[in-house]
Amino acid sequence: MKKIIGLIALTLSAASFAAPKAQWLTVDNDVLAKIRPKLNKSVQTLFSAQGASVVKLTQAEVEQLSETIHNELHRCGGFIAHESFEEAQSALSFQGDMYFAKGAIFADYTIDQSVLVAPMVAQVNEPSIREMIIKLSSFNTRYYKSETGIKSSEFIRDTWTDLSKHRSDVKVELYKHPSWPQASIIMTIAGSEKSDEIVIVGGHADSIAGMFGGSGKAPGADDNASGIATITEVIKVLMNSNYKPKRTVQFMGYAAEEVGLLGSKDIANSYKAKGSKVVGVMQLDMTLNKGTADQDIVMMADFTNGAQNEFLGRLIDEYVKVKWGYSRCGYGCSDHASWTAAGYPASMPFESTMEDINKKIHTANDTLQNAGGDAKHAAKFAKLATAFVVELAK
Ligand code: BES
Ligand code: ZN
Repeated sequence: MKKIIGLIALTLSAASFAAPKAQWLTVDNDVLAKIRPKLNKSVQTLFSAQGASVVKLTQAEVEQLSETIHNELHRCGGFIAHESFEEAQSALSFQGDMYFAKGAIFADYTIDQSVLVAPMVAQVNEPSIREMIIKLSSFNTRYYKSETGIKSSEFIRDTWTDLSKHRSDVKVELYKHPSWPQASIIMTIAGSEKSDEIVIVGGHADSIAGMFGGSGKAPGADDNASGIATITEVIKVLMNSNYKPKRTVQFMGYAAEEVGLLGSKDIANSYKAKGSKVVGVMQLDMTLNKGTADQDIVMMADFTNGAQNEFLGRLIDEYVKVKWGYSRCGYGCSDHASWTAAGYPASMPFESTMEDINKKIHTANDTLQNAGGDAKHAAKFAKLATAFVVELAK
């Protein structure tokens, strides 16, 4: 019964935003095999590569798929939504290190900015990260179709604007999406010499919980108030240091990640279509919960760029001085996958290995208290992201 009401509510809200009727999904083959019995018999595999397949589903079937994955397979994700078959197919065909967008720059990964980076890293402050996590997780939900989801993106915009108000070379804007109400947020620090080349640090601004996501409490403290608060700390440190990059630096808070990486996909595809030159992308999604005893920063090795990951490892050794390693999501688990699919080098330094994942995400219990109660772990990621920006935007 609850399910039927949820579906009706969803259909109504979807209709008012003219969401596409059908979507082409890229789905991990292991997930697809398990959900097959639940799908309409007419759903066919249209294309397969890299251990995943393209299928065409209706909006209602997409919601059902998400529900099945979360509630029955007891795991997260395993699919990305696309607007056309071609887009879905190319996401599978061109991922990884082999393919670069026209605008991709082959970056120089030397590390030689310690005079600038070291004092900035020393300014990273745990209490201010914690405070931002508390503010973000106090919105009832940041779900992409909810009123508080819209408001929380405006709050992030206002926070970032406030931190940069003394700078005429910095702008903070909402990036509006045509098919749903929550906006993404983009802060731009204009480059002084190579302004057409862009370094990006992003994380998703939305949250989700429960079967249909919309109305229930979704604090999303770890997933992903932590990433946004980490980015906010980097912005604070850069602005307080009066940092002026040679390349353009952009900080992004993506809308609608939890429902198929929608916001980042919209942005990454538009950068690709414009031929924007993106030097490197860092994704911060979950930096709060220290789940793995013997590793602090864990790089996701799949749907990311190997050379840039290796650069991040060296940045950690040089500036953060904590233990790091590699793990794999096994699917395009966050917005880095949107940039990888668009042909840009992307990395995702993560809070734990996949085996030690925070089990509270996507529930009303994804709170600061349930993830250790402080932001010490997140501070390591703020140091790394500061170093990444300064060493890559030079
Ligand atoms: N933060 C998660 C991704 C994540 C979860 C990474 C667990 C590593 C371990 C992200 O917000 C998320 O939930 N992603 C979706 C996938 C998306 C394509 C809908 C997921 O994993 O269900
Ligand atoms: Zn999530």
